[in-house]
Amino acid sequence: MAQQYVEREYPPIPEIRTIGVIGAGQMGSGIAQVAATHGFRVELVDISHEQLDAALSKIDYFLSRSVAKGRMSEEEKKAALARIETGTSLDILSDCEFVIEAATENEEVKTQILRKLCPLLRPDAVIATNTSSISITRLAARTDRPERFVGMHFMNPVPVMKLVEVIRGIATSQETYEATVELARRLGKTTVAAEDFPAFIVNRILIPMINEAIYTLYEGVGTVESIDTAMRLGANHPMGPLELADFIGLDTCLSIMQVLYEGLSDSKYRPCPLLVKYVEAGWLGRKTRRGFYDYRGERPVPTR
Ligand code: CAA
Repeated sequence: MAQQYVEREYPPIPEIRTIGVIGAGQMGSGIAQVAATHGFRVELVDISHEQLDAALSKIDYFLSRSVAKGRMSEEEKKAALARIETGTSLDILSDCEFVIEAATENEEVKTQILRKLCPLLRPDAVIATNTSSISITRLAARTDRPERFVGMHFMNPVPVMKLVEVIRGIATSQETYEATVELARRLGKTTVAAEDFPAFIVNRILIPMINEAIYTLYEGVGTVESIDTAMRLGANHPMGPLELADFIGLDTCLSIMQVLYEGLSDSKYRPCPLLVKYVEAGWLGRKTRRGFYDYRGERPVPTR
């Protein structure tokens, strides 16, 4: 529902030392890892203890790989891990100068989190959302600080991918935008500015390509393997589109297609019925160990 806009004065943006991360899934744990290895203190929040434990083990695993490859010393790894604090309550974010929301890609869930978060935060803190497709302007309007609200869209896997899209909502101030670009730089990332339209830049281009690959499979033009091989070897993509869909999560791909379809009212964005079927089956890709490939055995096997 529309909310009345209340103008307010903001204290200056403080120096960013502690970053809050909400959601310890694939994206949140990657953001926490990158922030901690770049010297920031991190407060990582998730409603599930299991998810937090899994995130810490994953971070430990990837940092150990960096130590084994000589990119980091054992002491640096320990120091990075020690900079991460975890908790199941948003209360631990009260000292953070910058909070990144990376919860489930569901507008209602994000809205509930933002409503609970705002009263707990420092009045000068910036809130960023890692949403891959939801309107920044609409989410900002659900906070007490639309000028201090921004989109900061990391790519998966966060520690490997160099890009962060920075998206301004209609009210985002120039100083919030600049602080976000500067933070991304301190995290070793390159930024691009994207306007606040459905799915921004990367997903506006990438997810319809994946959807088209699923149509190509649905119409029998190619098999799972031939489509992926074609795009890996014919277009030099590091992963084929169906392998990439499994990697991103088929539910996420579907939800982004729906945002594009509804947000742009253009039938060219209609989700492929085969994608819908996989999601309805709960075959969501790697995270459920089945998608366009079955990951339960030694090596992935196509599921059709
Ligand atoms: N977290 C941290 N590090 C990871 C990782 C992860 N999840 N996955 C891989 N890595 C690291 C590995 O540790 C490895 O590092 P080392 O050099 O220390 O060994 C490095 O990445 C390369 O990994 P691998 O050798 O295992 O595998 P690879 O060479 O095949 O690369 C890949 C894997 C980087 C994922 C590559 O296949 C790739 O770039 N795929 C495309 C990814 C992509 O398109 N991402 C964007 C998705 S869209 C998105 O994120 C937006 C959205 O909102 C949906």
